[in-house]
Amino acid sequence: EKGGYDHFMLKEIHEQPKAITDTYRGRLLRDEAIIKMAGVEDNMKKFLNANRIIIVACGTSWHAGLVAEYIFEDLARIPVEVEYASEFRYRNPVITENDVLIAISQSGETADTLAAIKMAKSKGAFVFGVCNVVGSSIARESDAGAYTHAGPEIGVASTKAFTTQITVLSLIALRLARAKGTISSSDFRRYLLEMELIPEKVEKALEADAHIKEVSHIYKNAANFLYLGRGYNFPVALEGALKLKEISYIHAEGYPAAEMKHGPIALIDENMPIVVIATKAEHYDKVVSNIQEIKSRKGKIIGVITEGDTVVRELADHVIEVPETIEALSPLLTTIPLQLLSYHIAVMLGKNVDQPRNLAKSVTVE
Ligand code: M6R
Repeated sequence: EKGGYDHFMLKEIHEQPKAITDTYRGRLLRDEAIIKMAGVEDNMKKFLNANRIIIVACGTSWHAGLVAEYIFEDLARIPVEVEYASEFRYRNPVITENDVLIAISQSGETADTLAAIKMAKSKGAFVFGVCNVVGSSIARESDAGAYTHAGPEIGVASTKAFTTQITVLSLIALRLARAKGTISSSDFRRYLLEMELIPEKVEKALEADAHIKEVSHIYKNAANFLYLGRGYNFPVALEGALKLKEISYIHAEGYPAAEMKHGPIALIDENMPIVVIATKAEHYDKVVSNIQEIKSRKGKIIGVITEGDTVVRELADHVIEVPETIEALSPLLTTIPLQLLSYHIAVMLGKNVDQPRNLAKSVTVE
């Protein structure tokens, strides 16, 4: 049942190229240069007239929501707020009939997310669900939606659900951008082409596995880890830290790289491994200077870099390469090494990777 892998988590990490393909299949029609998603098409007016989009979710799904915030605002120019479902539902939020609420949930059963959408519905908002489990409570409760086609995710640590959520949300953002005219047709085509290449690039990123295992071995006894990223890769830093915490029980924190100097930099010494997502992107130079600041404080740098990068390679203690892609799609690649890093560390520490202590696959209690 684990298809030859030692754990479901590892199997699911390796399933990502297929899961992403399954998620865009039938929706991304490159030859016709269109994106076809019935749930979006049928409700186009609601999306286009929305004052804002509110995204609610928990855990890893909330991280996917943060990535979506960047892509929706960047490409479709629609204001987005991303909320923890548990905070949103209890704080008497301002919701109107002109709001669109997107609920993201792998299981479709998360109690707080379900309660948040019921509340938003009662106030007249339009609710769109992004779930993996077909026929789940959140899928049924939503006015419309789009499934991720990740297939069953058994490991408690979410992996393929995360990348397929980002895939669905990117498709929606692109579709809306096209409808609004905030993206040119040539850029739109470029995105479709690039999206189609993502599965093979994920495959390529997975090839770093043996090297990641070596790095894992070096740092497996660290008491703390920091994860840093900027822009689209800030949420990936959060997700990397969550993954490490939940399966290896090592304390880890994700931070926007530029926030480091406002506090966390005080933690840095020669015992602190810091994973820095430093792929070629708009703020690349800024990330490089963050790396220099870490280095001068003797922190150990594990850089996630774009293939062929030499600058960070020079500075970092270790580098892990991922293929080049459009910045907005880069979380689909930069996430992969972070999943593998946490997996290997947890295995080396003898932890129960698929069923970490104190955690459940779906959190149906509030
Ligand atoms: O099923 P959901 O996506 O609603 O679950 C949300 C979180 O409970 C979930 O992502 C959790 O954080 C995972 N264990 C993370 O790996």
